[in-house]
Amino acid sequence: MSHSAAQRLMARIDELAAISEEPGRLTRRFATPALSEAMALVANWMEAAGMTVRRDHLGNLTGRYEAARPDAKTLLLGSHLDTVRDAGKFDGPLGVLVALAAVEELAARGERPPFAVEVVAFADEEGLRFHSAYLGSSALAGGFRSEWLELADADGVSMAAAIRQAGGDPAAIAGERRDPAALVGWCEVHIEQGPVLERLGLPVGVVEAIAGQSRISATFSGLAGHAGTVPMELRQDALCAAAAFVLAAETLARQTAGLVATVGQLQVSPGASNVVPGSVALTLDVRHAEDEHRQAAVEFLRDAASSICSAREIDLDWRPSQESPATRCDEALTDLLALAVAEEGHPVEMLVSGAGHDAVALAPLTPVAMLFVRCKGGISHHPDESASAEDAAAAIEVLGRFLALLAERGAA
Ligand code: GLV
Ligand code: MN
Ligand code: MN
Repeated sequence: MSHSAAQRLMARIDELAAISEEPGRLTRRFATPALSEAMALVANWMEAAGMTVRRDHLGNLTGRYEAARPDAKTLLLGSHLDTVRDAGKFDGPLGVLVALAAVEELAARGERPPFAVEVVAFADEEGLRFHSAYLGSSALAGGFRSEWLELADADGVSMAAAIRQAGGDPAAIAGERRDPAALVGWCEVHIEQGPVLERLGLPVGVVEAIAGQSRISATFSGLAGHAGTVPMELRQDALCAAAAFVLAAETLARQTAGLVATVGQLQVSPGASNVVPGSVALTLDVRHAEDEHRQAAVEFLRDAASSICSAREIDLDWRPSQESPATRCDEALTDLLALAVAEEGHPVEMLVSGAGHDAVALAPLTPVAMLFVRCKGGISHHPDESASAEDAAAAIEVLGRFLALLAERGAA
C-alpha cells in the first residue's frame, strides 16, 4: 500500500516542481501566480480524497477530513508550498504530500478517526519575498503582525498589495487564528536537510527541538566615486566595509560552538565595474540552539559592524527583520511519534533541527511534533535536494501509525 502511495507521492513532487516563477529553476515566492497554481493542484488532490478545501486570507490551503463525530477536535498536518530561490523539490511539498497520502489511506479504508484531520499547505514559510518567515503559520497561530503588511518586496510591492493580488483580504488575516481548545496539535513531516540520518542509515528521525533564528537587514552607506580617480586613502567604499563584516560573521561563527551565521544576499549600488561602491544592502541570518548564545552573537556582530563602519567613515543602518526563539517539540506528541517509528520497525533517533519550521510559529498555539526523512548527501536549499521513494513510504507508514496511536488514546 505505502509503496504505491510513495510512487504516487514522488510523481506529485515532480508535478509540483514544474510549477515555478522562473524557467529552468524552482522558485515559488509567497502570493505569486506560481504558488496559486501549486495550491490549486494540491486542492484537486485533496478534493479527490474527499476533503473539504479552503484557501484562507493569507493564502494558506487547508483540506479537511471529517472525524467520526462532528464535535471532535482537529489534528493539523502538513508543511509549506513556497520555496527558496533555485530550490529543491522536497523542502515543504514532502510534508504536505505525506500528510495527504495518510488521509488518502484513511479514506480508502473508509475510516473516520475520533478527530478531524486537516492537511495545511502554508503559503509562506521561507520568507523569500518579504524577509519574514512563517507568515502562513503565524496567521493560524494569531502571531501575524499587521505592521508586516507594509513590508515591501524587491520590486516595491507591499505585502498588503501582494495578498490582495492573490485574492486575500489583509484585514481578515487576524480572523484566521485557530481556537487552541479545538485542536489536538500539529505534526509535520519534513526532509531532514542535513546528513545525520544518512550517516546512521535510518529512513526517518524524530525532532525534539528547533534552533532559534535572527534575521537582520543591514545597509552600509559610503560614497560612490570614480574607480580611476579617487585615491585609495580617500575612499568610503561600502563594499569593502561589508566584506570585512561578512568575514567577521564567519570568524565569530567558526569560533563559537553551535553557532551558524550567514550573509546570503548582497546588493551593491550603483553596481558598475568602474564605480566605487556607494552602498551595500545585505542580509544576516544567525542561528543557535540556545537563545542567549544567538542573542549575544547578534549583539557582537552589530558592534563589529559599527566599528568597521566608523573606521571607514561608513554609515550603518541595522534593522532586525525577524527573531524566533528555540522551540522544544511537545513531549507527549513526540513520544507518540517516537513510538510510531519504533512500531514500524525503525530505531528511534532524536534530532535537533538547525533549519526553521512552521512548528516554531505554531508552538504557542498547540502542541507540535516533527518527523524528519533522510536527505541525500544532506543537501538542501539546492536543486540537488533529494529523498527516496522508500523513505517516503516509511514516512507515510509512520504517520499512519501515529494517527492510529492517537486515535487509540482518545485524542478527541
Ligand atoms: C527555512 O527553511 C529556514 O530554516 O531558513
Ligand atoms: Mn521547509
Ligand atoms: Mn526551507
